[in-house]
Amino acid sequence: IIDSISKADRIYIYAAGTSYHAGLVGKTMLEHYTGIPTEVGLASEAGYHFPMMSKNPFFIFLTQSGETADSRVVLKEVNKRNIPSLTITNVEGSTLSREADYTMLLEAGPEIAVASTKAYTAQIAVQAVLAKALGEALNKAEAKDWNLKHDLAIAAEGMQQLVDSKESLKEIADKYLIKSRNAFYIGRGIDYAVALEGALKLKEVSYIQTEGFAAAELKHGTISLIEKDTPVIALINDPATADLTRGNIQEVVSRGANVVTIAGKDFAREGDNVVLPEINYYMSALLTVVPAQLLAYYASKDKGLDVDKPRNLAKSVTVE
Ligand code: AGP
Repeated sequence: IIDSISKADRIYIYAAGTSYHAGLVGKTMLEHYTGIPTEVGLASEAGYHFPMMSKNPFFIFLTQSGETADSRVVLKEVNKRNIPSLTITNVEGSTLSREADYTMLLEAGPEIAVASTKAYTAQIAVQAVLAKALGEALNKAEAKDWNLKHDLAIAAEGMQQLVDSKESLKEIADKYLIKSRNAFYIGRGIDYAVALEGALKLKEVSYIQTEGFAAAELKHGTISLIEKDTPVIALINDPATADLTRGNIQEVVSRGANVVTIAGKDFAREGDNVVLPEINYYMSALLTVVPAQLLAYYASKDKGLDVDKPRNLAKSVTVE
């Protein structure tokens, strides 16, 4: 796999839904640790409007089920053009695994609930393993100096700490979310990718209309939707923009929003609702997503809904 990808001048990641959101995180890791420009796209948009290719492209398909029809259409186009490909999936022998040149398995164990959670986490971890191995093969100092095992151990420990304090997230869900018709997630950098995933998780299982926004984009239009008691969940882990996101929080607070802050230890301020253990920025999604998943879980459960089987959805989407 490494031999094949290291010849690429550009990596193209295609996926749907939660897997697409994991791809957005993977892009930042791959670019940082390997230096290979990486694009991420929605499979459903690429199948019939195939992206313009670099000279030596390499495709990665992220898919929990390995059966998503939208992703299969893109892979068919990729195979027609003889472009090398890798499927990262949780299901051995699945269609996307069989039809791609290479497979990496998530090894997350069966994921039964419709909402993808552990597959998302595993997709990020497996992309980290890929970025590390590829970056080392390409002699990148960033990859050689990266103690990934240490970072994964920190992530595992941090996730456990967050799960152990889950009662505080139930309180937040009960206080701010369950009676609300809408909600927002905001963040910048990797936090923006997690904001999209947090919003998807919350809306799909609680039916609260939730949008994920790049924090600064709110003021370009969406801030007009903020009114008294609108829940806004702010993610703050990006060293380059943490202070700017605090500014965006002030903008919504002054319009009456109920803000829930989820901040990394290094950026935390008094009064933050969740403080995440310290972790490498490129791995931060592994921790930030946990409170987001728990908020979705409690918002759904405490509304009396079936968390595992939200209405209108199937676990694997085999139609286009
Ligand atoms: C998210 O909770 C959903 N289950 C959905 O977005 C899912 O991630 C998407 O349909 C893609 O599925 P896949 O990973 O099996 O390809």
